[in-house]
Amino acid sequence: MRGLEGKVAIVTGGASGIGEATCRRFAQEGAKVVIGDIDGGRAEALAKELGDAALAVRFDAGDVASVEALVAAAVDRFGRLDVLFNNAALMSPDVIKLDTDPVGIDFAVWDRTMAVNARGYLAGCKYAIPHMLKAGGGAILMTTSGSGLLGDVSNIAYGASKAAVASLMRYVATIYGKQGIRCNAICPGLIRTEGGKKNVHGAMVGVMERNTLTPRLGLPEDIAAMAVFLSSDDAAFITGQNIEVDGGMLMHMPYYSDIMSGDIAWDS
Ligand SMILES: NC(=O)c1ccc[n+]([C@@H]2O[C@H](COP(=O)([O-])OP(=O)(O)OC[C@H]3O[C@@H](n4cnc5c(N)ncnc54)[C@H](O)[C@@H]3O)[C@@H](O)[C@H]2O)c1
Repeated sequence: MRGLEGKVAIVTGGASGIGEATCRRFAQEGAKVVIGDIDGGRAEALAKELGDAALAVRFDAGDVASVEALVAAAVDRFGRLDVLFNNAALMSPDVIKLDTDPVGIDFAVWDRTMAVNARGYLAGCKYAIPHMLKAGGGAILMTTSGSGLLGDVSNIAYGASKAAVASLMRYVATIYGKQGIRCNAICPGLIRTEGGKKNVHGAMVGVMERNTLTPRLGLPEDIAAMAVFLSSDDAAFITGQNIEVDGGMLMHMPYYSDIMSGDIAWDS
């Protein structure tokens, strides 16, 4: 990718899954990477492995003061900030299983989900954008989800938080585009990360697989590849987009998997 050498990137949720793969890829591309995660031990272990190009910072996306401290730590260490990848989200099955439907959900679950998944991303923008403006521009990425685009039978707070993130992304792209800041979102399909495996298992994996057009489900590296591309100068003319990296899961007719499985013939 062009233009990543020497750039400074923060990746939130950088200690596991999509974030971890993206940190590794940024380091391979010659960027400096700040691994922000609530799991400080894992972030430290990854930073140690990546060497001088990496810094681990423990933070909680649900606590705006700790988001501010994350951005400050990145600038203190590397002197500038070029990329912010807002990617951390509440993935703990203990919380996700309580995130049900409008009648059953507790307000505390809604509030914590919104605080981490949506307000945490706003806070990242709030504290990162002034540094990017000083440097003449930058790239902001956010991880959304198909749950924010379509209705589903559960996890209403998660879905609404991801829809909020898609909107936040378009506002940031619109307000700061002329000042050189691009903002895009990546909308993953089913990615076999630790968080993904804890929340989607059993028969649902087969259902998702049947509705994915590619021969395999997604890998963290599939999303990392899009993240580094969108951060690079090769993506200089791309902004305001919510790009689906999902093996075509949301790009086909709802009856696709019934026909492909042979349950229903196209001409029946
Ligand atoms: N895996 C999938 O199938 C899938 C699909 C759609 C969207 N996503 C999105 O991808 C992103 C990454 O998820 P993943 O699959 O890599 O999961 P993961 O559980 O492997 O990684 C998530 C990371 O975020 C960290 N984290 C959680 N809460 C945090 C907080 N409050 N503050 C800071 N860090 C926190 C965790 O410690 C973990 O390291 C999330 O935004 C998720 O919603 C994932």
